Amino acid sequence: NRLMGISAEPESSLTYDELLKTKFTNYPKTETSKKLIKAAISDNDFMKNLEQFQIDEITDCMYPVEYAKDLYIIKEGDIGSAVYIIEEGTLEVTKGGRFLSKMGPQKMFGELAILYNCTRTATVKAITDCKLWAIERQCFRTIMMRSGLLKQKEYIEFLKTVPSFSKLSDEIVLKIANVLDEITYKKVNVTINDRNNTVLSSPSRDQNMNLTTSTTMALEKFIRTLTRGEFFGERALQGEETRSANIIAESPTVTCLVIDRASFNQLISGLNEIKTKRYDQDISERKILNERFAHLK
Ligand code: CMP
Repeated sequence: NRLMGISAEPESSLTYDELLKTKFTNYPKTETSKKLIKAAISDNDFMKNLEQFQIDEITDCMYPVEYAKDLYIIKEGDIGSAVYIIEEGTLEVTKGGRFLSKMGPQKMFGELAILYNCTRTATVKAITDCKLWAIERQCFRTIMMRSGLLKQKEYIEFLKTVPSFSKLSDEIVLKIANVLDEITYKKVNVTINDRNNTVLSSPSRDQNMNLTTSTTMALEKFIRTLTRGEFFGERALQGEETRSANIIAESPTVTCLVIDRASFNQLISGLNEIKTKRYDQDISERKILNERFAHLK
């Protein structure tokens, strides 16, 4: 979900505003260390979808710690208090006394107990002297949740500017904001031809998408340009099985907020605006095409 898979738990007792305002200490570090930390975050399977600003914030908040050879950094079954990245040294991971793996520089560990609010899933021990970077649990979780909240706020504000959604209750707008995915299309022939999603709108003012129809004879006809705040892709989700037109990115990149079929049906499809959206131009286009190809039928 939008809070990046972080589960709700009693420790997150901060209010919305407190969560947004909390500031953490930044620890100075060399460019080389910053690079290493960022690379470690990007390499981690559970972290690689983070936003760049989250990666930057986590990097700034990490502080240095050293462990001598043979010391335990994490013990299986404990409650997790920090996430680590290795700068120097070799560490060993074991579970129930069984060897799992060795880890070296530019590797993140200790993230599971904190992301998923479970106890430590394995034991981690220094097998040489080690230099690590660490980030406290609360700091790490706040950064992760904060970005979710900021995105949520941005989506809510945007959805309220879309005329079709302006009459929706705050509750429904919040629910829509929570299920949206953001997808960026490049200016190549992007055809929205999947069956499961609808695209709500393109957020940026200078971004356009072109709506065209094509027949099986490969004749493509321009219909209109769609801009920020317009929605498309809703028809095929309302009973019609196949997409009735192609939508092609015209600007170098177009960012769309996308909602899946199940959420669309649950939250949006009953809206009058969407039910009654008319495609007058579209209808006249069809007439032209029908007339043009009448002799082939
Ligand atoms: P966490 O469960 O918080 O604490 C122990 C850490 O060991 C865990 O997060 C992972 O980062 C790491 N870990 C768990 N299983 C493995 C594995 N099979 N190989 C390497 N690292 C692991």
